[in-house]
Amino acid sequence: MTRMGPKQVLVPTVSFLLLLFCLGCKCRASELEATQNATLKVDASSQLARKIPDTLFGMFFEEINHAGAGGIWAELVSNRGFEAGGLHTPSNIDPWSIIGDDASIFVATDRTSCFSRNIIALRMEVLCDECPAGGIGIYNPGFWGMNIEDGKTYNLVMYVKSAEAADLTVSLASSDGLQKLASVTVPVAGTSNWTKVEQKLIAKGTNRTSRLQITSNKKGVVWFDQVSLMPSDTFKGHGFRTELISMLLDLKPRFLRFPGGCFVEGEWLRNAFRWRESIGPWEERPGHFGDVWHYWTDDGLGYYEFLQLSEDLGAAPIWVFNNGISHNDEVSTAAIAPFVKDVLDSLEFARGSANSTWGSVRAAMGHPEPFPVKYVAIGNEDCGKKYYLGNYLKFYNAIRESYPDIQMISNCDGSSKPLDHPADLYDFHVYTDSKTLFNMKGTFDKTSRTGPKVYLYFHGLLCLFTFMTWARWPFKCFGIDLVHSPASPGLSLGMFLP
Ligand SMILES: *[C@@H]1O[C@H](CO)[C@@H](O)[C@H](O)[C@H]1NC(C)=O
Ligand SMILES: *[C@@H]1O[C@H](CO)[C@@H](O)[C@H](O)[C@H]1NC(C)=O
Ligand SMILES: *[C@@H]1O[C@H](CO)[C@@H](O)[C@H](O)[C@H]1NC(C)=O
Ligand SMILES: *[C@@H]1O[C@H](CO)[C@@H](O)[C@H](O)[C@H]1NC(C)=O
Repeated sequence: MTRMGPKQVLVPTVSFLLLLFCLGCKCRASELEATQNATLKVDASSQLARKIPDTLFGMFFEEINHAGAGGIWAELVSNRGFEAGGLHTPSNIDPWSIIGDDASIFVATDRTSCFSRNIIALRMEVLCDECPAGGIGIYNPGFWGMNIEDGKTYNLVMYVKSAEAADLTVSLASSDGLQKLASVTVPVAGTSNWTKVEQKLIAKGTNRTSRLQITSNKKGVVWFDQVSLMPSDTFKGHGFRTELISMLLDLKPRFLRFPGGCFVEGEWLRNAFRWRESIGPWEERPGHFGDVWHYWTDDGLGYYEFLQLSEDLGAAPIWVFNNGISHNDEVSTAAIAPFVKDVLDSLEFARGSANSTWGSVRAAMGHPEPFPVKYVAIGNEDCGKKYYLGNYLKFYNAIRESYPDIQMISNCDGSSKPLDHPADLYDFHVYTDSKTLFNMKGTFDKTSRTGPKVYLYFHGLLCLFTFMTWARWPFKCFGIDLVHSPASPGLSLGMFLP
């Protein structure tokens, strides 16, 4: 501890006095209001009326600060496939850890998974002949601990391999391992093959900072991969947390922009969101490191799940795709064709018939009916970058040809002068405090009413939206400039202006 000098004491004192002074002002102001009447005249005549579009308000979702992984997506295990440490083995298995000491257990990742797109698995070697009574093994604390609730059922799925038969104990326990909330024995047959294990765990107690434990008492080697724990009561059985989705439903969003902003771009293209890697059986998804917001996601919440979420919310999906541009590297327009093809495939995945190449993949995932994607954003906040316009036009023309009804959103600002390229809408993103925002009220007054419409997006104004991040502290409010604070939400308010 350091001693406080006179100056340091002064600062809090002054702030405190300022605070009192301000509160005083506020009181006097409200007394004043109570004694004054104001008249507000509203001209509601039909010639001045403007029809408010059905789609005026909606949401901008971003995988930021665990809004998805650890947030609305109900998966409790973090780094379920041991992929987060990268491809060079042995790799870091964070946040997994061992139960027992180095003399009794040795764990290391290797490249022996049965899944070719996510080849890393965990090898656990039990070294003890006389293992401690509670067993030794591994545990996963999830995201800030798992919120295990009394009476609820949790579905465990994992892949195991062991040359010799073994009995594993899978349990839900408090963070120190002392309080056992649920426990099942999982017999593993001795084979050279991977086996899928499915078990239900019913909690007989509540602890919000629990962990998943997998332990053994027997000397030997067991491999693990793709360990998943989901509560059984997800929204419509679609994998989303029911209590958070009910809050989203209360907002009555008419559109959902996903999967994010910078999350779509990446610091580097190799770390950008790729829809193709995020579909199909969850076990086979490679996952990726979101290098803008600095965390790994297993991509359980993938392109299909976002489309499903839009449907479940009654919101029109707005698919924001990577246009070959990240924060630090760009694909030139001359080389963009494969990216354009990739986006056309994503639209076939969403909208194609169940017989089409990609529509059949969607159908196999459980949704034979197409998802009605009517809006796409060509990149995120990339206007002015070297290849933006060139790439934009390639995407625009290809999509216009194959899907004439899809409305395309440009990243360039058309509020003060007409855009120099064709677009149905343009993005206008606001990151500011409420005072500045109110001062911007005339921003669109002179904008042409016949050109592209605006997709307006505010970030950081409404503390209501921070709940996405704080799984365990819904409605915590962090004030302004949320986008640059570590408590930033993953969800903001969006509007389509008529
Ligand atoms: C304001 O309006 C209320 C309700 O009509 C009335 O009772 C009150 O006298 C008015 N106050 C002033 C200051 O005009
Ligand atoms: C949850 O577990 C922690 C760690 O053992 C313990 O301190 C806490 O009291 C437990 N909470 C409940 C509600 O039992
Ligand atoms: C291992 O899997 C292969 C292919 O699925 C199967 O043919 C074989 O019988 C399995 N072996 C054992 C021991 O289960
Ligand atoms: C899709 O497949 C079904 C049944 O296999 C067939 O009846 C239908 O004509 C096909 N539709 C298209 C558009 O190819």
